[in-house]
Formats: sequence, C-alpha cells, structure tokens
Amino acid sequence: MDLIQSNLAVRKSLAKYSNTDPDDWFLTFKARFGMATVFQAIYNIYGHGEVITQPYTCITAINPILVSNLKPAYADIDPSTLSLTQPEKCYNSKTVAVVMQHTLGIIGDKAQAIADFAKKRRLILIEDSAHCLTRMATSESGEILADISVHSFGVEKVIKNTKFGGAIYVNPELKKKNPKLYGEITTSLLNLPQPPLGLDLRSRTYRFQNGLLHRLPNSIFNDVRNLAYKAHIFELAVAPYEQSAEQSRPYASTKFVNNTILKQLPTLPAIYKLRQKNVRVYNKKLVNNPDFELINNCDEPLLAYPILFKDASTATKVYDILTSSGFFIRRWYSPLLYPGPNSNRRYHYSSKMAPIAESIHPKVLCLPTDLTQEKMQRILAILHPVEKPVQKIVQKSSI
Ligand SMILES: Cc1ncc(COP(=O)(O)O)c(C=O)c1O
Repeated sequence: MDLIQSNLAVRKSLAKYSNTDPDDWFLTFKARFGMATVFQAIYNIYGHGEVITQPYTCITAINPILVSNLKPAYADIDPSTLSLTQPEKCYNSKTVAVVMQHTLGIIGDKAQAIADFAKKRRLILIEDSAHCLTRMATSESGEILADISVHSFGVEKVIKNTKFGGAIYVNPELKKKNPKLYGEITTSLLNLPQPPLGLDLRSRTYRFQNGLLHRLPNSIFNDVRNLAYKAHIFELAVAPYEQSAEQSRPYASTKFVNNTILKQLPTLPAIYKLRQKNVRVYNKKLVNNPDFELINNCDEPLLAYPILFKDASTATKVYDILTSSGFFIRRWYSPLLYPGPNSNRRYHYSSKMAPIAESIHPKVLCLPTDLTQEKMQRILAILHPVEKPVQKIVQKSSI
C-alpha cells in the first residue's frame, strides 16, 4: 500500500481495537516524536510551563518535554502501580499538563483521580500508553479520560516485530474544551515531514542488522553495535545524545513502517490474550515467595510482569540466573529516567523528589509475559520457592 492508504489502514485498525474514530489517530515515526509535537503545541499556546510526570520512566518520555522548552516536575510513584501518584504535590501556577503513564501496561484504577485532578486545575492530561497499545483509561461510563494518548510500536513494546512507529490519539472532546490547542496539536501532527533517507533506510534494515548483532559473541556485541551506530547504519532504541536531553526533530510515519505495522496488527488480540493468561499464571504461582513480592495483582495483559525483591543484590543475582537461562528480563526503570541521564540537573531531577521510585527501582525485575506454556514452566521452576528456592539457586550459582 502507498503512504496514504497504509496510513489510513493503520488508523482504522487502531480505531477498531480501541473503539474510536480513525480520524482521531495520527501516526508518527516514533512515539517520542508524537509526544514532542504535542508538547511543542502546548508551548506554542501556553509558553513556558511545567509538566507533571514521573522519573520511573524512559528518558525518551522526558526529552519531548525538555526539547519543547517545558520543564518536567517529578511526582513519586505508587509502588503498587509503578505509576504517578499525588500529582498535586508538584502542582503550582506554572503547571500546564500532567502525564499519566501506564507503566508496563498497568492501567488499574488510578486514572479517574488523576483525571479529576487535571480537570479541576484545567491541565492537559496526556496518557502514556506506550506499554499498552490501543488500551486507554476510561471513566466508569466508558469515556476516554485523557486529552491525548500516546502509543508505541517501538523496540520492546507490545508488538515485538514492528520496532518503529508511534500513534497519537487526540480526544475529540479537546476540540470543544480547548479548540485552539486542539487545532495546534492536530495541524502540527498532520504537517510532520517524512524522515530523511538515512533514517528510513535504518528502519528498513533494523531487524536484519539486529538479528546479525545478536549472533555475535557477548564480548564484542556492544562495540560492534556502537560502531554501526556511529557509522549511521544502525538506529539505537535510545541514542547517547538522548541521554543529554536532546532529540531528533519529529517525523511522520513512513510507508515501510505503516506496512510493517499492518502485517503485525492483526496479531494484537492473540498477543494480549497470551500476555493476560501469563499474568494470571504469575499472579497465582508467584505468591508467598520469600525473596520477592508481587507488585500488582492485576488481571491486565501486561507488557512485562514486575516483581519486587527485598534487596537489589538478590534482584541482580536472580536477573543473572534468568538471563543466563535464556530469558529476556527487563530492569525497568533502573536507573531512573532509563537508561539514565548524563546530568540530573539538565533533567531538573533530584533524588529527593521521588523517594519511593529511588528506593524500589534497583529491586524490580520485569518478567516476560509473552512466553509459551513450556517456557512459563521453566521460568516458574527457577523462581518457585518450593521446588527450587531462589536463595539456594543464588548460593549454588555463586560457588
Ligand atoms: C513509557 C514510554 N513512553 C514513551 C516511549 C517512547 O516510545 P518510542 O520508542 O516509540 O519513541 C517509551 C519508549 O521506550 C516508553 O517506555
């Protein structure tokens, strides 16, 4: 399909899964580009202002605020959702927006309170659904709560084989509430240019190159990958300059990215079914483990399943055991503002702002939820306290 046809087809599919209108979806090359476009529009209308967000996130979710001349104000997280709590603590007369991130796809029941807070203070509510493609927080009566909702097809997101692409849902209610901002956001998203040839080529060759890289011995993997990045032939999920509050200018999605998404999107219901099934298995099988606690006993199709260890060193030892057994375990988000800023100051962050996030980030491991039944049994056997206590495995492996 050509660019226009494929763009419409992706939007129709997103609308079908989310029970929304295709006209309210806008496609970008990466979700971070869509976020930057939205924040830039906010800046264009309101000027300098503050955006309440959380440090337990990827740095690519904060850069769009900074490159738009807005200032992030960090609220702490609720340990049971790993998401923003008590945003009012960061509120002041300069606050213009609040970001409600559904970390690992945990939507839970936090959203109405955050939406009420935003509504009362006339703040723009931006939902970060990067980890829960097409899933959005709604009110009891089913209305989408956010003004803007951000979705990602990027690396390590819900659909594994897309690697590029972002989608921004602009709530049509914003048109009534704030027509000027609605106009600014939608026009800017529609006017995003196509990426330059180099970036387009890197997205086309990413999966092939990544496959080759992963066949290399661990000892040279990072060096070769960095060389390929420096030679402008490989696109990193997070580039080094992005750890210094910088970001490329935003681009729209391409024909290649749209067509790749179109091939993968029909698998979304099956992916969610599998993830939800495995979340339920973890909920049941991992309770009462002496080494870790379950963070959230939810029933949602999470991107990954978080468990909280008593201490960072046990978390690291179990991480090593699981990864050496072939499992892909995320340590999101450790360090905070993952993979860590070059300077906290540039990000307006200080560890005092978020004591809960600071204390738990090194102790969380995020287990995969897209495993086959056989692999689920293997991972559970490694983690199960009765069959093989983690402590014993840890001791054995350190001999
Ligand atoms: C919470 C969150 N928001 C936004 C993004 C940005 O997504 P993308 O990689 O599509 O730019 C990420 C990326 O890792 C993320 O983890």
